[in-house]
Amino acid sequence: MTTTSPRTVVVTGASAGIGRAAARAFGQRGDRVALLARGHDGLRGAAEDVEAAGGTALTLPTDIADFEQVDAAATKVEDTFGPIDVWVNVAFTSVFAPFTEIAPAEFRRVTEVSYLGFVHGTMAALARMKSRDAGAIVQVGSALGARAIPLQSAYCGAKHGINGFTESVRTELLHDRSNIHITVVQMPALNTPQFDWVLSRLQRHPQPVPPIYQPEVAARAILRAADHPERKQYWVGASTALTILGQRLMPSVLDRYLARTGYSSQQTSEPVGQGRPNNLWQPLDDRPGSDRGAHGSFDDRSIDHSPQVWLSRHARSLSVAAGAALTAGGVALIRYRH
Ligand SMILES: NC(=O)c1ccc[n+]([C@@H]2O[C@H](COP(=O)([O-])OP(=O)(O)OC[C@H]3O[C@@H](n4cnc5c(N)ncnc54)[C@H](OP(=O)(O)O)[C@@H]3O)[C@@H](O)[C@H]2O)c1
Repeated sequence: MTTTSPRTVVVTGASAGIGRAAARAFGQRGDRVALLARGHDGLRGAAEDVEAAGGTALTLPTDIADFEQVDAAATKVEDTFGPIDVWVNVAFTSVFAPFTEIAPAEFRRVTEVSYLGFVHGTMAALARMKSRDAGAIVQVGSALGARAIPLQSAYCGAKHGINGFTESVRTELLHDRSNIHITVVQMPALNTPQFDWVLSRLQRHPQPVPPIYQPEVAARAILRAADHPERKQYWVGASTALTILGQRLMPSVLDRYLARTGYSSQQTSEPVGQGRPNNLWQPLDDRPGSDRGAHGSFDDRSIDHSPQVWLSRHARSLSVAAGAALTAGGVALIRYRH
């Protein structure tokens, strides 16, 4: 896949947070960006971002939990922009609460948006990419898809599920020797609006577990994955790498560690009253002036770069340089000895 000519890109969950930052980044490359989410005000703001950055935007109000809406949006994208080159699944919701305090309907809704929403997007994209045998699908995953934490059972279940079904689809594409690629970008904690609008039954304000990265770090990783979707997974941030590797090595130790720390690390000291508005069933950015943008309320605590991402991006050239340095050192040593 070339990165020079403008592409047709679909981003779900594009009205806020990571999807919003990714949409803008695709716009900066001149791409045609279809923006899927529910909130009209957020979508309008996202379209302005994309156009101001140099891309072309198409807003498509869509509830990702409803496959018919997703499929209709995909048809509209191809009617307007032509074949979809890249589909990025981002849209999600959650409930911050102990499992026993989540109603069955709430758990189902989180699963329908955060898990089946990714399934729907993947189905709509593949149905169109298959006949052309070309395209890339990028799933925005999470370290919590490898290692679950307390107070987010529905979300962690969805994120684990995304890894499972994506792995299965990937093996089918490999079996078919397909030129369509599907990859997952496993994200760290990010400063997005979710902590202000997700349904929460916690006594204090929810927060991402530090270290917290800015959504632009995630956006850069999504663009890289869209350019190189042959890779099975991308890990963003040292905290993601440590979480995934830690889970592989000592899952029971992490169970006890998270039991001890996971409640307090996910809340600030600021009390929150019951009944704060949430976006589980309806969008919150649906009224004029209610656009939340890409960033959440933790700008002062967030990092806008990731050395781990830089290292992974430059791993090949670094290993070549290290190899060359070792060879040169070896030659110098041999010469010295002789
Ligand atoms: N923030 C983090 O710490 C973090 C960490 C790891 C991974 N992630 C992943 O990053 C992705 C985005 O998270 P975020 O933090 O950016 O979330 P966010 O700020 O809450 O944004 C969520 C986006 O999804 C959309 N959305 C919610 N329900 C929808 C529905 N039913 N149909 C269509 N769109 C819907 C929202 O727009 P509307 O409400 O307007 O529809 C919004 O555009 C998720 O997949 C999440 O798992 C986030």
